[in-house]
This record gives sequence, C-alpha cells and structure tokens, in this order.
Amino acid sequence: MERNHTKNGVADVFDGFSTAFKSFATDAIHVGQEPEQWKSMAVVPPISLSTTFKQTGPGQHAGFEYSRSGNPTRNCLEKAVAALDGAKYSLALASGLAATVTITHMLKAGDGIVCMDDVYGGTNRYFQRIAAEVGLDVSLADCTKPEKLKSALKPNTKLVWIETPTNPTMKVVDIKACSDICHDHDKNIVVVVDNTFMSAYFQRPLALGADVCMYSATKYMNGHSDVVMGLISVNRDDLHDRLRFLQNALGGVPSPFDCYLCNRGLKTLHLRMEQHFKNAMAAAKYLEADPRVERVIFPGLPSHPQHELMKRQCTGCPGMITFYIKGNLEHASAFLSNLKLFAVAESLGGYESLAEHPAIMTHASVPEKERKVLGISDTLIRLSVGLEDEADIIEDLYQALNAAHPKIK
Ligand SMILES: Cc1ncc(COP(=O)(O)O)c(C=O)c1O
Repeated sequence: MERNHTKNGVADVFDGFSTAFKSFATDAIHVGQEPEQWKSMAVVPPISLSTTFKQTGPGQHAGFEYSRSGNPTRNCLEKAVAALDGAKYSLALASGLAATVTITHMLKAGDGIVCMDDVYGGTNRYFQRIAAEVGLDVSLADCTKPEKLKSALKPNTKLVWIETPTNPTMKVVDIKACSDICHDHDKNIVVVVDNTFMSAYFQRPLALGADVCMYSATKYMNGHSDVVMGLISVNRDDLHDRLRFLQNALGGVPSPFDCYLCNRGLKTLHLRMEQHFKNAMAAAKYLEADPRVERVIFPGLPSHPQHELMKRQCTGCPGMITFYIKGNLEHASAFLSNLKLFAVAESLGGYESLAEHPAIMTHASVPEKERKVLGISDTLIRLSVGLEDEADIIEDLYQALNAAHPKIK
C-alpha cells in the first residue's frame, strides 16, 4: 500500500517523500510482544521489576540472571526497536547521553572522533569537555558538506558522529554520502547517526550506510514526555557484542517501568509522527507568511535548502521548526513569554507543543563563538509542534507574535 498520495487534487504533506517503511505499524505493535513468551499469555508485556531471577542450579537460568544484564521488559522494547530500525539488534540505555557515552566507550585513548559541528548541546559538551579530557582526539566538521568531512578524517579516526536534521538549525546531512566517505577512508570507522529528531518512522540510518543509529528516546520514540531513555540499533554482530558488554559493564540501563512506557509509546509512533508532520507543515507555512518572522527553517518546506535531500532520504518530517523572529532578544523573549498553548520548555518530540530559546536554554553549553558561527542567535526560536488541533496551534503563534510586535500586523 502506497502512503504517498494526493487527496482530491490537494497536495499531501507526504508528496515526494520516500514511501513509508513496509509493515512499520504492524511491527511496532507486535514484534517482541508475543503473548506466548509469558506463562500468563499476557497480551501487554508485564513490567518485570525483579532485580534477580531464580536459577534451577548454579548457572542454570531461563535467560535472565540480574536485571542490569538483562530484563524481560527491556527485551520486549529492544526487539521492537530493532524491528522498527530495520536492524538486527537494539539496546536500551538510561538516557540519550548514556547511549552516547556507551557508544564512545568502544574507543580508547588516542582514538579520533569527528563530530558534526551542529549537534545537540549535551553531545557537544560530552565530546569536547569530557571525551577530549580523557584522551580522545575530538574534532568538529560541517558534515552538510561531505568534502569537509573528508578532509577532517585522520588516520586515527574511529568514530564519526552525525545528527540530521541538526539541532537547532535544521541542516540536513546526506547520510549515505557521509557513510561512503568514511568507509572509503577506513572501513572500520563507526558512523553513528543521532536519529532523535526523525524517529524510526521517518528515517532509517542503517539502511543508508551508517553503522549505528542512536536516539534520545526521551523525544519522539517514547513521545509522551514522561521517560528519559536512550536507544542504540546496529546490524553488525561485532558492534552488538561490544555494546551489549558495555551496556552491562558501564551499567547505564533504564528501569523496567520506563521500558514499559517507551514500549507502549512505540505503538502509536506512526500515527503521532504523521500528525506532527501535518501540524508542523501548517505552522511552518503560517510562520513563513507572517511579516513578524524573518526566516523559517523547516525541511518540509520547498524554501529549505536541502528539501530535496530530505525527501529522498526520509519518509516525512518531524514537528521541529526553527525560525528567526524579527527584532532582537526582547522580541524573542516577548514571543516566548506570551505563548499560551505552547509551553516554554526544553526537550521536544512529545504530544504537547513546546517552544524554547536555544541560545539561553538547550544550547547554552555550546561556546558563544561556536553558537555565532552556527547561527544560534538571540532571535532564533525552536518549536516542537505537538498533536493539538492545527487551528489552535496557529492561533497561539499568531497571538504571541502580535504581543511581541504590536506595531507590525
Ligand atoms: C538530538 C539529541 N540527542 C541526544 C540528546 C540527549 O538525550 P537525553 O536527554 O535523553 O540524555 C538530546 C536531548 O535533548 C537530543 O535532543
């Protein structure tokens, strides 16, 4: 069944995007959830809170020994995520950053990391202020220009970290082109894509040549702003073995209750992402036409410089919009303070609409000089468009822009 369609001659937001991944919804609902795995035949996976599991004799167990090394509820989630990423394996961690740290622990002192220059502030902080301190050779590159990535690769490069679209300036990276460049340089380079903004529903980095797909599942994958979690998916057995060892040895695992919630969130991922895209497209079009707005950055709009790449690489766009309001910090603050439906808060990807000021909030940890180069200015505002009614979302943006700029109508 094709999802890309035209309704009554009106262009659908999905027109031109890659077709949806086959059986995604069915997999989200059923993979790893088989009732037959429980004696009770529970249709909904139980929350296994037990930290330890009875052995019939020393070393004789039913697959579980101790909850850090393996937990039945976590297993259900990991199996579902692997299916959704088109991957062989998936691992759940206690947060997106715990996933980042676990992946980085595959390296040893002296190894090189090339990190995209425009990533989540916490990723930037971890690489530059922690990984670099313990002897990893960290450099930044503009991966939107694959030739710049090529010249940043060194003989010691072991890990390349990409985020697409970037946070918060929504630059799109060609995953296939970058993966090919890295693997031509050295087939052992591990290319990681932070797929947080896209979710498994809109982008499959492993199918595009990346070695590792990771998420802050705190965002779209869980989707309900009530769980902090990280996820990692891989196809390679060697990477899985190492990461599985590190998951247990470093110990940054999520609680069974959080695994239960995230597993539940996945059941509606396809529905949520489609509605996020529809609502965001309406909001982006509205903002683009508003005279109080300087510029809108939304990869779903033809005005986005990498709109064509986005359509080729992805099956849709998430609810993330960045825009520059006209004026200065005062206008940006007035807009944010006057929002009624959107909550001014960090994070993204939940059912509720959020707005934030990256320079003061999520990206305050990025050095000011770097923020300037990236375009994270005082007038930049990031929206995570939620699942409320489209008309109410637009009405809220309209009234807050009015409050910020009473003289421009
Ligand atoms: C793109 C991206 N990656 C990673 C992270 C870190 O994830 P967590 O907050 O779950 O540790 C975030 C958090 O905002 C993020 O936005």
